[in-house]
Amino acid sequence: MKIIIVSSTQQMTQLGADMFTQVLGEKPNAVLGLATGSSPLPVYQELISRHKKGAVSFKDARAFLLDEYAGLSADHPEGYRNFIKREFASGVDFQEGAVQGPMGDADDVYQAARDYEESIVASGGVDLQILGIGTDGHIGFNEPGGSLSSPSHVEYLTEQTRIDNARFFDNDFNQVPTRAITQGLATISRAKKIVLVAQGAQKSQAVAQMIEGGVSALWPASILQFHNDATILLDEAAASQLQNTAFYRAIAEAEALLN
Ligand code: F6R
Repeated sequence: MKIIIVSSTQQMTQLGADMFTQVLGEKPNAVLGLATGSSPLPVYQELISRHKKGAVSFKDARAFLLDEYAGLSADHPEGYRNFIKREFASGVDFQEGAVQGPMGDADDVYQAARDYEESIVASGGVDLQILGIGTDGHIGFNEPGGSLSSPSHVEYLTEQTRIDNARFFDNDFNQVPTRAITQGLATISRAKKIVLVAQGAQKSQAVAQMIEGGVSALWPASILQFHNDATILLDEAAASQLQNTAFYRAIAEAEALLN
């Protein structure tokens, strides 16, 4: 893992956007993996701004969402396909149909999850995946206790995740769906390159377990310890429960990662 503790959101945003810009520069038809939620939004905004300046194009790229709530109607504003269209895709030049998400509104969500996995495999695989992390250590909606080698599947959301996400549903826990279709930990692990962004003290325990804890189904993000090209971008608060910060900072300095 490449652990980078940034001093500002601006720095995190630039580094995250640089990774997308570089991958698309090298491979214009790259397959991207997109998270929703709050964490990646500044990176998406920066990419929109770079796109407007002509610095990056998504016209030959494709993208797969990490996950989608099960049971929300296709036009629900908090459905992740609508979220990503509103917050990112509509601001850049993806072609019609190039951004796919799991069909959480399907009659058979289990079949929809299997179909989604097949589509990702058929695309040739994700070149760059951006992730956030849940306060309970989930990535995608892979909640504690699930298989560390799962393909895309239907997952029940923990109470903690539903509490955390109630802010998107009029602060009403009961409106938050109980299930989602998510890329599995095996699916995410196959991405060639991963960047995970985490901001705020509420993420610090999950971040510490992900980086310095044992690899465990209890902290699903810890699976990233097995990935050989994962960059973790943290603000000071999210990094506050790590033990080896001096070492991570020294490496970042030696490698000039923050220049
Ligand atoms: C979103 C997703 C989740 C979020 C995580 C953090 O597609 O898969 O794993 O990344 O719940 O959410 P935020 O960024 O809103 O704190």
